[in-house]
Amino acid sequence: MKSKYQKIKGTFDILPADTRLWKEMENILHNISEQFSYEEIRTPAIESIDLFKQNVGYETDVSKEMFTWEDHSHQQIALKPEMTAPVVRAYIEGGFFRSNPLCRLYYMDSLFRREKPQKGRQRQFNQFGIEAFGSSNIEQDVEVIMVAATCLKALNINDTTLHVNNIGSPETRTQYEALLKKYFAQNTRSMSSLSKKRLDTNPIRILDSKEKEDQSIIKNAPIVKELLNDSEKEDFNMLLSNLDALNIKYEESPYLVRGLDYYNGTTFEITTRSNKSQNALCGGGRYDFLVEKMGGPSTPAIGFAAGMERMIIESQYQVAKNSIDIYISSNDLNHSRQCFSIMQNLIDNNYTVFFDTNKKNVKNQMKDAIKRSASYLLIIDKNITVKNIKSNDEIAVSDFHELLNFLKNQ
Ligand code: HAM
Repeated sequence: MKSKYQKIKGTFDILPADTRLWKEMENILHNISEQFSYEEIRTPAIESIDLFKQNVGYETDVSKEMFTWEDHSHQQIALKPEMTAPVVRAYIEGGFFRSNPLCRLYYMDSLFRREKPQKGRQRQFNQFGIEAFGSSNIEQDVEVIMVAATCLKALNINDTTLHVNNIGSPETRTQYEALLKKYFAQNTRSMSSLSKKRLDTNPIRILDSKEKEDQSIIKNAPIVKELLNDSEKEDFNMLLSNLDALNIKYEESPYLVRGLDYYNGTTFEITTRSNKSQNALCGGGRYDFLVEKMGGPSTPAIGFAAGMERMIIESQYQVAKNSIDIYISSNDLNHSRQCFSIMQNLIDNNYTVFFDTNKKNVKNQMKDAIKRSASYLLIIDKNITVKNIKSNDEIAVSDFHELLNFLKNQ
């Protein structure tokens, strides 16, 4: 039967068959974040449009693909498309730079981008991410990548590649942009129409192009590494040697600049090795100038975010099937009070119960209990009978205490 209403394009229901895996994944991510001493932050779903336009970048896909509207007081509102800018806003508004100079935050949240939907690309999706404020040392970069690698390992996501790069200072970025613009302008003849458009608006983004005709041009484009100064080169080498020591495998990716405007220094991405078009599981990097740009004190920062739907698709993690301890059958209204009292006591003693409010007959209830993987069938009428579904053993008990004794001794 077709519902009168359908979900909005690009959105998905997470149905009971999958929520156990989601919950398990969320628990793992909460635990790992806390093991690394990151604290959870939750921010509103709506923010001002300018927060993203001015800080993620006017010409970035993220800013262009926002769901926006003007509210009744003429405020320009956006559903948040990413978490870094809101977390920085909250960090400044909350005065964390005073109370917690080395501040480490993590989040799991729903985000919204009006992108063309396809497998692994949704208009509402979930991200897990971390942001570390207050250290400009390369050790902080190593730790952030270590958190990402630990999470993927714990979720049993194995077939991945970590891409790392260093894009230098904002001045290097400007220089690089000019260099790229010059280079791409000389190679427009066989360039895709999308990249031609980006040549004027955001030439760095041409490096992310997946269009076939752009690949040979990109392959010979200048690399940012040539513009790095000695200390930036040293930092990058230090990062790589620490990753080696941790046995975290990586690839140097000289064209990894990332699509958002706020990055400098280390950038990284983790992709699946499969040939999917949406193969980026996780992306991040340094953004040492964003806090100051947004009105806070000069504060170095680095973080990453991972798409939770994409991690679920790639995870080989197995969750145990949902099971019920006691299936309760009480088909006689005269015994409902006793039934509820026993049910409450079972819940208070940490048993999971399923109460058949449809009052099927006992034979059908037994079938249903087996289907739901229940361990016991509890029949409450003028007697109380408990049946072990596996062994078929059954006994009569006179009250809850006797029932509890029976269950504990099984
Ligand atoms: P991002 O690369 O835009 O970075 O997104 C991070 C991850 O979110 C992607 O690698 C992907 O797994 C997932 N993702 C993005 N868009 C979608 C979508 N439409 N559907 C499903 N998954 C998606 C950021 O958002 C930065 N704020 C990351 C960061 C944190 N940088 C520093 N700190």
